[in-house]
Amino acid sequence: MLTRESPAAREVRVVRTRAELREALSAARRPVGLVPTMGWLHAGHRALIERAQAENATTVVSIFVNPKQFGDPADLERYPRNEARDVEICAESGADLVFAPSVEEIYPPGFDTSVHVGAIAEPLEGAARPGHFDGVATVVAILFNLVGAERAYFGQKDAQQLLVIRQMARDLAIATEVVAHPTVREPDGLALSSRNVHLTPEERAAAPVLRRALLAARARWEAGERSGEALRQELRDVLATESLATPEYVSAADTGTLQELDHLAGPALLSMAVQFGSTRLIDNELLP
Ligand code: PAF
Repeated sequence: MLTRESPAAREVRVVRTRAELREALSAARRPVGLVPTMGWLHAGHRALIERAQAENATTVVSIFVNPKQFGDPADLERYPRNEARDVEICAESGADLVFAPSVEEIYPPGFDTSVHVGAIAEPLEGAARPGHFDGVATVVAILFNLVGAERAYFGQKDAQQLLVIRQMARDLAIATEVVAHPTVREPDGLALSSRNVHLTPEERAAAPVLRRALLAARARWEAGERSGEALRQELRDVLATESLATPEYVSAADTGTLQELDHLAGPALLSMAVQFGSTRLIDNELLP
């Protein structure tokens, strides 16, 4: 049990096993809000925890770096971790309970199931990172089942992840409501991400080009442009102004299916993945 000194902070209990979690939740006031994370918490996570706290009687934060969603072992290895700091942020943001399990607690010996979501998981991040969404859907299904929350909170920055999790919860009849929260940004527009820590100072200075590209394409759309290819080209053109940015994909897609659009007749999702040195960043903008 940790007691925070800050008046705003609450007591937050850290549990590590399924049994401890079950015991802690048996006495929890409902509704319960869950914020699934992989740790290295930043202001984006704070916003999710604060929202969960405002909308629920009990807020649970899970901290688990999920090996199944990393294709590259080196990427998993270098994923930043600092549990003590994460627990402090949870307390300051109003969480009641932190679930920080080991890999064996989530995937015990003999674990042999994978949750595979279909078409919505295929393009964009799904194409760029084979197996990634199987890992995400599997761990989130486990967390949803273990916590049994009324609501779970995810950032809009990972727009496709949100759609994949919604599909998974709907198809598996999991009652937890999936709540999307707006992307939190640095003053210069860079979306907060645990991966930003890996950017060199030069790459960090270049990274707001993602936001500039999205805003430029949005401005074209606001001026009446409805050609999907013209909007994708606008994204490419702005990204090309930054020599440290290597685009992996740019997209102007249907918000329901994530299929690329020739013509925007309704809501659309502009999105991109861009490599800066060894760091891969994603961002997106919803066009209503
Ligand atoms: O967005 C993340 O941090 C992760 O993909 C999630 C949802 C916690 C699953 O590991």
